[in-house]
Amino acid sequence: MAHRPLIAPSILSADFARLGEEIQVVAGQGDTRADWVHVDVMDAHFVPNLTLGLPVVQSLLKVTDLPLDCHLMIENPDRWAIGYAEAGAYNVTVHAEAAKDPVKIAKDLRAAGAKAGLSIKPGTPLEDHLEVLKHYDTLLVMSVEPGFGGQSFIADVLGKVRAARRLVDTGHLNVLVEIDGGINAETIEQAAEAGVDCFVAGSAVYGAADPGKAVAALRDLAAQAQH
Ligand code: DX5
Ligand code: ZN
Repeated sequence: MAHRPLIAPSILSADFARLGEEIQVVAGQGDTRADWVHVDVMDAHFVPNLTLGLPVVQSLLKVTDLPLDCHLMIENPDRWAIGYAEAGAYNVTVHAEAAKDPVKIAKDLRAAGAKAGLSIKPGTPLEDHLEVLKHYDTLLVMSVEPGFGGQSFIADVLGKVRAARRLVDTGHLNVLVEIDGGINAETIEQAAEAGVDCFVAGSAVYGAADPGKAVAALRDLAAQAQH
């Protein structure tokens, strides 16, 4: 893997009263520009927290040209995921643990013009979802239990990242490998070494004095650790 690492700041750690402006902070030019903006949708059922939904995503799409990476931590994504694709989200990720018919979801998301993402929680084995993943564009490996920002990185999940990387590099799988949870200047290198392509970072970007500089610094660290 030799391509430029992708950095996706999570607006879960941004100021929810000023989301449009908070996205502009990582939408400058050059190294400080985010590659994607990660939007955490939580329903207080699949996870014990509640954030935002489709109306907010529709409004964000009007104020940014950065690709929106919508991470749906919700029950019944079979019913709700399609709306995010139709609205214009770049990538729509559903949870393998919540999806009833993940292959149909992926087909519908792609037909609506979005990339299809499948996420697995820290305790969910990769092997159980390999067949389904053939229909997906991105694999989001959770490195914390989904629900809250600012938690500690669970390094055990890097085994799944390495396995996915091997399958991609040997042509058995065609997904972009994304990681989410506890990514910061201390943890990003080990994730990059394991083979992650896209790094979600919430508190490490929006908790920084200069979020744009944090994006650039994280990308540099990941690029140096890649092999
Ligand atoms: C957690 C969310 C993450 C969260 C990451 O359930 O899916 O996207 O924003 O936050 P940090 O980077 O602070 O762990
Ligand atoms: Zn997320």
